[in-house]
Amino acid sequence: MKAVIFDLDGVICFTDKYHYQAWKALADRLGIYFDEQINNRLRGVSRMASLEIILERATQTYSQEEKEAFASEKNALYVELLQQMSPADLSDEVRETLNALRAGGYKLAIGSSSKNTKLILSRLGLGDFFDAISDGTNITRSKPDPEVFLKAAEMLSLPPEECLVVEDAKAGIQAAFAGGFSSAGIGEAAEHPNCTYPIKHFSDLKKILL
Ligand code: G6P
Ligand code: MG
Repeated sequence: MKAVIFDLDGVICFTDKYHYQAWKALADRLGIYFDEQINNRLRGVSRMASLEIILERATQTYSQEEKEAFASEKNALYVELLQQMSPADLSDEVRETLNALRAGGYKLAIGSSSKNTKLILSRLGLGDFFDAISDGTNITRSKPDPEVFLKAAEMLSLPPEECLVVEDAKAGIQAAFAGGFSSAGIGEAAEHPNCTYPIKHFSDLKKILL
């Protein structure tokens, strides 16, 4: 193994609550039922695919134009909420583990469906930290498609077999498996049958890799 490709939301940082608040505000305005359980289904899923999941409960249909306006409305609120994030939101455990893996000689990359990846990394003080960033802005197919991870491996000039993917979403483990990567899964991702290394804590990566 020569590199580690990290998912962002739910692995490096915790933006779930901001996604939830922003989607909830939109759903409330449209009179659509939405709760934390439905929010869990949005993990790793692109913005437009997330909107489609929310609209499953809608009593009317919407045009593509309306859907795009809804997604922009949610994102504007989400980006506003992200302004609350600071380097203090990067846990000591994540910071220390990332530094240990880098000191161990691994290349470190991000593989996230989020189009806000660079904004979030800069809020966390990690704007220049990673060797490669593959995100929602350079892919056409969202997880469980492996595209985002394959692009990250390509940016690192490494084959998938030499990269470990770290994920918190089942869709992410499925994507890693489809791309020929081994994976470490945290939380619900650890339960996926294709997860190579189920882990409890981010720092467990050191036990696997060092
Ligand atoms: C990550 C999150 C998803 C989110 C997606 C797109 O994968 O886990 O919940 O929907 O990114 O995020 P974006 O910031 O582009 O709306
Ligand atoms: Mg995630």
